[in-house]
Amino acid sequence: MSYELRSARYLAADILRQAVAPGDRVVDATMGNGHDTLFLCQLVGEKGRVYAFDVQEKAVESTKKRLEEAGVLSRAALFCLGHEQMAEKVKEPVSAVVFNLGWLPGGDHTVTTHWETTEKAVESALSLLKPLGVLVICAYPGHAEGDRERSALTAFLSALAPQRFNVLHQKFLNAGPGAPECFAVQKQ
Ligand SMILES: C[S@@+](CC[C@H](N)C(=O)[O-])C[C@H]1O[C@@H](n2cnc3c(N)ncnc32)[C@H](O)[C@@H]1O
Repeated sequence: MSYELRSARYLAADILRQAVAPGDRVVDATMGNGHDTLFLCQLVGEKGRVYAFDVQEKAVESTKKRLEEAGVLSRAALFCLGHEQMAEKVKEPVSAVVFNLGWLPGGDHTVTTHWETTEKAVESALSLLKPLGVLVICAYPGHAEGDRERSALTAFLSALAPQRFNVLHQKFLNAGPGAPECFAVQKQ
């Protein structure tokens, strides 16, 4: 298959493919319709574990159905809970944490991620990462709350100690101001 440099989501998936190995423990902080949760279940394999969070029951149900159909539900722990409570449910080091910010595609646009809770969850994620583990975040500045969240996230990640974390910010410069952006952080 040929390589295509085409979207924030594509870049995020590419990083996860490199960073996650069979048997790993990982977190999907924004389950949504379960596409990322399924992808992570496939990467961690039969002996791995995926912890996934969403505040909407609808998202949990949709993800459960997707994982059941793919025969990988036993690899996941699905929580109808805000990701800001991640540390209360995940009690072991993880090799990756994924955030796909914003709202549920096809759902209620008022139920979106907000920086105040995202910040707490990102702090938990950074603590949970094992050495060389990665935090991957796709942000959507094309709407007002998403723009605020992207700006605050950029400031927060820019201030991380370079002795502890490598921080990458990828955006497509010619795709317009609202185009999705990808952030990746690796723990040293
Ligand atoms: C862009 S969607 C995620 C898409 C998903 N990764 C997928 O593969 O289908 C963002 C999700 O974040 C959820 N969300 C909003 N606030 C949240 C919070 N505090 N904790 C966890 N999930 C939250 C929304 O309900 C929505 O389903």
